[in-house]
Amino acid sequence: MEKLVAPSILAADFGNLQRDVEMVNDSKADWFHIDIMDGVFVPNISFGMPVLKSITKHANKIIDVHLMIVDPDRYIQTFADLGADILTVHYEACTHLHRTVQAIKAAGMKAGVALNPHTPIAVLEDIIKDLDVVCIMSVNPGFGGQSFIENTYKKIQQLKNLIEFSEASTLIEIDGGVTDQNANKLVEVGANVLVAGSFVFKSDNPTETIENLKTIIN
Ligand code: DX5
Ligand code: ZN
Repeated sequence: MEKLVAPSILAADFGNLQRDVEMVNDSKADWFHIDIMDGVFVPNISFGMPVLKSITKHANKIIDVHLMIVDPDRYIQTFADLGADILTVHYEACTHLHRTVQAIKAAGMKAGVALNPHTPIAVLEDIIKDLDVVCIMSVNPGFGGQSFIENTYKKIQQLKNLIEFSEASTLIEIDGGVTDQNANKLVEVGANVLVAGSFVFKSDNPTETIENLKTIIN
């Protein structure tokens, strides 16, 4: 299967949001990765619904929304209405994860679950077949521009084994600290989707950076 690149809008220039969204539209990127932070689940606040609305107005690729918020069940229908194609919630934020995942699907979206760096893959054993995406956090969620945690490779292998053993068709997404230095190894061990924020948007030529990442991993 083709490996995917999902630029994280968190690192875009919000004063030039339409320009940056159109850059992603016209690039080789596959998904828009949208980080929603509430200042409670993570120690940072990113942006909320009005900004997401402005993004989806111009975006013409898959909208992958990563919720770093407590009690995400409250907003499932809102994100569906705003145009999210994939809605990812954090394992650590959901007491009734199975119910949350079913609600995401019932609202017409693909369901993803994200795991913090300290959360073992094994907690997903009994739900893996229901998941369209598992997002392994390769940094502690909350900020862009942090450095990649090496233990992620081991977790990708464990998740890949779990998916194969369970005959699930879940995509493995990696989020945080992705660069051209680790992209190849990440897909070699089993990643399907690489999120990249700073590495794309802080580069001199984001369009070219996305294209290079796509070439490296495919
Ligand atoms: C971190 C976010 C990431 C972030 C990645 O909490 O979930 O999506 O934007 O940024 P980089 O690629 O700069 O680590
Ligand atoms: Zn993210």
